[in-house]
Amino acid sequence: MIHLGVNIDHVATVRQARRASEPDPVSAAALAELGGADGITVHLRQDRRHIQDRDVRLLRETVRGVLNLEMAPNEEGASVLDLALAIGPDQACLVPEHRQELTTEGGLRVREDDARLRQVIERLKARKVLVSLFIEPDPATVRLARSIGADAVELHTGSWANAWAACRGRRDCPSLRHELSKLEAAAQAAAEVGIQLHAGHGITYANVVDLLHLPLLRELNIGHSIVSRAVLTGMERAVRDMKDLLG
Ligand code: PXP
Repeated sequence: MIHLGVNIDHVATVRQARRASEPDPVSAAALAELGGADGITVHLRQDRRHIQDRDVRLLRETVRGVLNLEMAPNEEGASVLDLALAIGPDQACLVPEHRQELTTEGGLRVREDDARLRQVIERLKARKVLVSLFIEPDPATVRLARSIGADAVELHTGSWANAWAACRGRRDCPSLRHELSKLEAAAQAAAEVGIQLHAGHGITYANVVDLLHLPLLRELNIGHSIVSRAVLTGMERAVRDMKDLLG
């Protein structure tokens, strides 16, 4: 069974739009787990644009499955690393982070001689946190991730998802075949070197089935599409509840 990590960042995005107390991502996490989520994923960004430190602390107390904390491994992210080491999420996914981006763009650049990255991995692993690196689907980067001590790689599926949308899911469409072959080659490399395989970004209800054949795929992290559907499927009930109050 593929493990589903539900990314609830955008519940916090709605809350932060008003700097209010609702919707609370902690409540959303509990409901996601009731719905069958195997884990909850949050990205504590350096600019704290959505998830806040308080959310991560409370989620550590309340999440029953796997708590996966996405974070940047750079110097500016030191306070995030400190929090991670203090609370000990079950899993940490190291991602690149740029202030101007709307969402995580591109995978982490992994270099054999990146002392900072090695140190972050070591410190998290010493805290018994499973460490995953969010990388472009490229066999050489998968091997590098293994050699610097990561337990898992999360393949960035964003380019594949864009190609899927442009090709409307037609499997004979050249750009989609090209993107899928990159994911397949990276998944194969992960199986060869014995590193856990995760994937995420841009995965939707429409495209997800086309990823399920990747060899030894263990985990998918999905956020935007699930939160989007939750807003729509919950709308009718929410309006009815308000109308009831109006008598
Ligand atoms: N995995 C990682 C590492 C991410 O940064 C994100 C986006 O926050 C996701 C998965 C989820 O992507 P999406 O919101 O497009 O499902």
